Amino acid sequence: MQSDALVFFGATGDLAYKKIFPALQALVAQRRLDVPVIGVAKPSWGLGEFRERAAKSVVAHGAGRDAAFDELCQKLRYVSGDYNDPSTFARLRRELGSAKRPIYYLAIPPSLFATVVSHLSGADCTNCARVIVEKPFGRDLASARALNRTLHDVFQEGSIFRIDHYLGKEAVQNLRFFRFANTFLEPIWNRQYVKSVQITMAESFGCEGRGAFYEETGAIRDVIQNHLLQVVGMLAMEPPATTYAESFRDEVTKVFRQIPALKARDLVRGQFKGYRDEPGVAANSQVETFAALRLEIDSWRWEGVPFFIRAGKRLPLTSTEVIVNLKRPPLAKFTPGSTNYVRLQLTPQSSIALGAQVKKPGEDMTGQAIELAFMPRRSSDEMAAYQRLLGDAMAGDPTLFGRQDGVEEAWRIVEPILGDATPVHEYEPGSWGPAMTERLTSGIGGWSSVDGRTDGTPPEQA
Ligand code: BG6
Repeated sequence: MQSDALVFFGATGDLAYKKIFPALQALVAQRRLDVPVIGVAKPSWGLGEFRERAAKSVVAHGAGRDAAFDELCQKLRYVSGDYNDPSTFARLRRELGSAKRPIYYLAIPPSLFATVVSHLSGADCTNCARVIVEKPFGRDLASARALNRTLHDVFQEGSIFRIDHYLGKEAVQNLRFFRFANTFLEPIWNRQYVKSVQITMAESFGCEGRGAFYEETGAIRDVIQNHLLQVVGMLAMEPPATTYAESFRDEVTKVFRQIPALKARDLVRGQFKGYRDEPGVAANSQVETFAALRLEIDSWRWEGVPFFIRAGKRLPLTSTEVIVNLKRPPLAKFTPGSTNYVRLQLTPQSSIALGAQVKKPGEDMTGQAIELAFMPRRSSDEMAAYQRLLGDAMAGDPTLFGRQDGVEEAWRIVEPILGDATPVHEYEPGSWGPAMTERLTSGIGGWSSVDGRTDGTPPEQA
């Protein structure tokens, strides 16, 4: 059943400004949003100021002031008030009017979730309602469980939508599609043929004013526990059944269950030089802005295949890439040192490439590495992640959202490496993290180049 009102808390915040208003505008343009949209936040604004904020948001991050925006403006309402004050929720109840199946989007710090949820319930706002929660979903296994209990006091699991915006990305959806829509892939997608899998999330920028947030988070909590483990899940999962709705989340969760908890010896943490000078960052901060790790999946398909993940800020470039390296063919003469691979780039663009060997022109029977690359063009109907996810949540489709068991499993995996489990090593901005990161992959010939630029030789495109 479609939700009949959308309420978002944190309506004057950064996330609303950068992502939510543009997503709502796009949903209106797609004719997927035709219900009242009620923003709730502390500033004592009137509706006019709220609409002004929405306008600035869509000009900066959306499609600008177009017909869809005008339509969105007509749907907007604003409730100002303190989240600790029951009268805020009484006003919200009045604003909801005859809506019977509202959806609440908590774009607010998790420390406020319990307060907001219990006031919503107290104001008789939660019958037949749904809730969307933003990451981070907890900061370890115990807090994630506590958060789940808080939400379950009021909402059933089927009404809870935990956002991981990576799952809404077109390129991430394409990864899933590519894996199961191609006959040539399945026979080699296993321990018989795959030598290693590497996932790199490199960002050339730093904390961009989010120092205080980052101090509480660090790279492992910020992107590995959620975005990158979800990517591992999609790379490693068994084909989902097509006969029941939960099969996708079941298969991803099954992968998580097969990953042993990480060990400190399989982790390298780094912090870029200059991080401690950022506003909101402690002068002696031990928080990691970079993490590299190795994990294994104890399954029939993947036993013995190392999966490597590295993620960091202030690296040489911005790109999230997966590289699935295949084992070498036995005739080393043709392919000294190199292997076939599948490269899936997830950000900033979506592309897929197959690394292959061809004969170098000339007398000698020697090989040359090439890439058979496919770069999907951006199409006008490509859905931004938030647009896809908000639309799905309002339609009640939970497929692309974290489920309680999966989220808790992901925390179990990273739990032993959180905090000061290992020392943090300083690295130069613009480098690939601390030198000792190389230690992790020394047994498999090192990290693969990302975007063709780590070794300075862009792969040839064919
Ligand atoms: C967010 C993290 O979840 O994902 C950020 O908090 C990170 O630190 C961002 O930069 C990356 O997502 P995207 O969609 O910009 O690649």
